[in-house]
Amino acid sequence: MAGKLIIGNWKMNTRAGTAQALVQSLLADPVCNQPWVAVAAPAVYLAPLAGSLNQHALQLGAQDVSAFAKDGAFTGEVSAAMLQDIGCRYVLVGHSERRQYFAETNPALLAKMNNTLAAGMVPVLCVGETLEQREQGGYLDVIFQQLSILGEVGDGEYVIAYEPVWAIGTGKVASLEQIAEIHTAIKTWCLQNAKPSANIRVLYGGSVKAENAESILMTENVDGALVGGASLDAGSFRMICQAAGKLI
Ligand code: 13P
Repeated sequence: MAGKLIIGNWKMNTRAGTAQALVQSLLADPVCNQPWVAVAAPAVYLAPLAGSLNQHALQLGAQDVSAFAKDGAFTGEVSAAMLQDIGCRYVLVGHSERRQYFAETNPALLAKMNNTLAAGMVPVLCVGETLEQREQGGYLDVIFQQLSILGEVGDGEYVIAYEPVWAIGTGKVASLEQIAEIHTAIKTWCLQNAKPSANIRVLYGGSVKAENAESILMTENVDGALVGGASLDAGSFRMICQAAGKLI
C-alpha cells in the first residue's frame, strides 16, 4: 500500500485546553492535516476533539477499548461502539504499557481487536519484546506469540505497530537493521497466518523523533510510525509528518 501512516499516541498527557491547542495547530498545518495522520488522545478528550476534527482530514484514535462488546454493567469501560459513535477511526490495542501495567493478554486483546473491527474502526495491534527477551535471543517468538491472535481476527483493515519495549520513551531507537528484520518477519508471518483478505500495515514505534523519522520511514517494510513523546509537540510531530509526506 502506498503512503505512510503516522499516529501520535499522547498516552496519559494533556488537559482539555492543551489537547485542543495541539489539535488546532495540527489542523492549521497542511503538512499534518492529512488523512494518513492520526492522534490517539486520552478517552475523556476524544469527544470534544472529534468535534474540532469534523470536516478535516486529520484522524482520531483511541488508546484502548473495552473487551466487552455489548452495552451493560461494565463500570468504567468505553466500548468500541462508543468510540465509533463519536468519530474515532483507529484504536490502539495491546500497547506494551497496557500489557505491563494492566496485565493485558491475548484473550482480551483478541476481543478488543474484534470489537474494534466489528464497529468499523481500524485496530492497531502493538507488539514488541522487552530488553531481557531481546538479550535472551527469543524475541521473534515473543512477537509471533503476540501476533498469534491475528489468526482468529475477523476480516478487515488493521495495523500492527512494532514497538520494542526497550525503545519506548528511552531515547534508544532500534537500529535500522533491527527494524527491518522484525518488520520483514512480521509481514512474512502475516502472509502465512493472517487472513488473506487482511489489509495489513506495519508501523514502527519507539523514540521516533524529527531527527530519525525519515531514515526509519525509508526502512524496508516500514509503513509508518507510532509516535509517543514527539507527538505532544506540534513542531516535532510536524517534522515527522513532513518526512512521511515526502515518501508518498
Ligand atoms: P515514544 O515515542 O515516547 O518512545 O513512545 C512510543 C510509544 O509507545 C508509542 O505508542
